[in-house]
Amino acid sequence: MSQASNNSDTAANISQWRHQNIREQFPLLAQRFDAMPLCYLDTAATSQKPQIVIDAMQRYYQQDNANVHRAAHRLSARVTSQYEAVRHKVRQFIHAKRLDEIIFTHGTTESINMVAFGLSGTLSKGDIILIDTAAHHANIVPWQELAKRTGAIIKAIPLDKQCQIDISAYEALLTLRPKVVALCHVSNALGTLNPVKDLVNKAKHYNALTLVDGAQAIAHMSVDVDDLNCDFYVFSGHKMYGPTGVGILYGRFEVLDSLSPMMTGGEMIKTVSFTHTEFGELPNRLEAGTPAIAEVIGLGAAIDFINDLPRAQMFMHEQQLLHYLQQQLLQLGDIELYGVISAVNTNVGAVAFNLKGEHHQDVGILLDQQGVAVRCGHHCAMPLMHSLNLKGCCRASIGLYSNQADIDQLIHALKEVKALLL
Ligand code: ALA
Repeated sequence: MSQASNNSDTAANISQWRHQNIREQFPLLAQRFDAMPLCYLDTAATSQKPQIVIDAMQRYYQQDNANVHRAAHRLSARVTSQYEAVRHKVRQFIHAKRLDEIIFTHGTTESINMVAFGLSGTLSKGDIILIDTAAHHANIVPWQELAKRTGAIIKAIPLDKQCQIDISAYEALLTLRPKVVALCHVSNALGTLNPVKDLVNKAKHYNALTLVDGAQAIAHMSVDVDDLNCDFYVFSGHKMYGPTGVGILYGRFEVLDSLSPMMTGGEMIKTVSFTHTEFGELPNRLEAGTPAIAEVIGLGAAIDFINDLPRAQMFMHEQQLLHYLQQQLLQLGDIELYGVISAVNTNVGAVAFNLKGEHHQDVGILLDQQGVAVRCGHHCAMPLMHSLNLKGCCRASIGLYSNQADIDQLIHALKEVKALLL
């Protein structure tokens, strides 16, 4: 297919989906910077929020504000049932088998810390923890701390030339019988998609516990934790059109139930005396203290929002945009792209690049002056940057509200940057 017909197909598909109606539900996107439209290409850092999420959180504070699980009064009962209804929504959304496999946390980072801390009594000196080289620091540092506490050893799973897990190296590492394998579903820095079902099944063969960081996948694709067969799957609300301050720890019941709680206090107990405390059952045992109630309700609204959309079309729309972005960057010239280039369905949500010879921060600042928001830096993935021999890069990341005009604005702005710097 020629480049020209490919581009017009992309445009046609996007307009067929009545994309504008969806975009209009995100009030922030209507603003302008210095008379230029805001071109928000930093969804991987945090997504924008639709009005339904903003309204749900405002309604909670205006009409329903009370603590959950704690009082005899009707307000508390009402908000408790709203809060628990979101647990049902999350369970359905990720296809977990049981309601008590869903733990509300404050975000992906906390979810991973809870697992790494909770396994402290399970690992011993010399046990191996395998970590994806593309992992975000949130999926590295908690494991290092676990290794310090237990004497376990961290080993990195190498990537191939396309920045995907090197399968034969991974298989060789698995023969060392690791206790834990920590993977990312989609790399936050590059947008590369891992074949996690296959990777998890390989790890299961050696009885390793598997944790999948789904922070960059959850907004873009349907996730079925039962089908993936992972022990833990973690993500944040704010990357999936919900608020900051809320995340999910999914754990297969038997392994989740064996975790030591990282946080103790109110709500997570059965009985307390000054000499002994008996912990409660899941999910409460891992939810000490007053939770982020408004944020959980906002997350529920975000799930409703996503569930109301045609997910297959959303995925196709985003795939077409990413492909268009990669093609436009390649045509622009003087661009280095990282990760898998132009293969179908191998990148999700983001494309990483540098303008040859230029510092990524300079490019980011000059793009911002033209209304274009991208993230520049190491993307909390310093080991990945090191493996690519980079100090950092620019990352353009999209959401379901992104459109071809966003990509065109980025490309136009990059042309200006090139003219200025090269
Ligand atoms: N983890 C977020 C990102 O990749 C902050 O930008």
